[in-house]
Amino acid sequence: MSNVKRILITGESGFIGSHLINYFVSKYPDYQIHGLDILTYASDRTHTKILEKNKNYFFHQIDIFNRKEIINLFAQYSFTDVIHLAAESHVDNSINNPLLFANTNIIGTLNILDAFKTYSVGRFHHISTDEVYGDLNFSDLAFTENSPYNPSSPYSASKAASDHLVRSYHRTYGIDAIITNCSNNYGPHQHIEKFIPTVLASIYNNQKIPIYGSGSNIRDWLYVLDHVLALDLIFHKSSPGKTYNIGADNEISNLNLVEIICDLCLEKKIHPNPRKLISFVSDRLGHDRRYAIESQLLRSELNWMPIYNFNNAISETIDWYIKKFSKI
Ligand SMILES: NC(=O)c1ccc[n+]([C@@H]2O[C@H](COP(=O)([O-])OP(=O)(O)OC[C@H]3O[C@@H](n4cnc5c(N)ncnc54)[C@H](O)[C@@H]3O)[C@@H](O)[C@H]2O)c1
Repeated sequence: MSNVKRILITGESGFIGSHLINYFVSKYPDYQIHGLDILTYASDRTHTKILEKNKNYFFHQIDIFNRKEIINLFAQYSFTDVIHLAAESHVDNSINNPLLFANTNIIGTLNILDAFKTYSVGRFHHISTDEVYGDLNFSDLAFTENSPYNPSSPYSASKAASDHLVRSYHRTYGIDAIITNCSNNYGPHQHIEKFIPTVLASIYNNQKIPIYGSGSNIRDWLYVLDHVLALDLIFHKSSPGKTYNIGADNEISNLNLVEIICDLCLEKKIHPNPRKLISFVSDRLGHDRRYAIESQLLRSELNWMPIYNFNNAISETIDWYIKKFSKI
């Protein structure tokens, strides 16, 4: 094997993975970038198939739960590094099918860790969520890297378990592993089941916009390209064993976010009165009240700052989805 960096990016055809792999393939032409994805309903290969024209890009359609295929893949390519994003990611689905989330998010991660331990010499970067910390009261301070784990849903519990496995492999086997826990991402390429695309699809189709409970739940929104820049920095610069939270200090209640989107859709003449579509539906079971994440460590140690302005980024996000809906 040559000593070129061979990075495996799992979950490459999902929302965040598709942005990350596009960025890495173009920024690092000297790396071999291998995308892996089983292509579940949540994926959209159109955003990564276009990379096939690049000599440094390779794709593998494999299920991370399939231990044998994962081990064979690592045996064949001896990836130097892994950035692991593949996961079942929708909280509502985890409430209906926790086993799938345990299989993919826990056992799938374990399979990759075992293959990595045997065949890889570089870094294992695990992409996780702030939801592992549970939720906050409205007056609580934001989560830090030292906040105790207290997951509320089968999704966040499965991500918490995978974080623990990654840390244990660093401690027990000495692999170079790092973890990043980010807040809610927004931007193009997200599956329609997620909150912002659902709101936009409702407005575009003149249907009710479903908001859980009273809409007072707060989320801390991070533009997906700010996330990608943070991942690039952390992957290349962090010391082994580190954990960083990634957030943009952008707490907004669900209702307020919907109102912002409605007003922009009115301004863009997408709908004559979007706010009249707002409708409150029964709350999600165990619905977390508030997420807020403190990314001071990342800012002070690695000099990261979000660079995308929320008003511009949400406006461009709206344009992207409306264009997509108009082509369907
Ligand atoms: N989107 C967010 O706001 C957010 C926030 C915090 C953390 N995260 C984490 O970031 C990662 C990516 O999230 P996302 O929003 O892009 O999710 P996504 O659901 O859009 O993408 C996940 C990808 O993983 C693939 N996948 C699922 N099961 C697989 C399996 N068994 N084998 C191989 N591939 C499989 C899917 O096909 C999909 O392409 C996840 O680990 C998620 O937990 C996401």
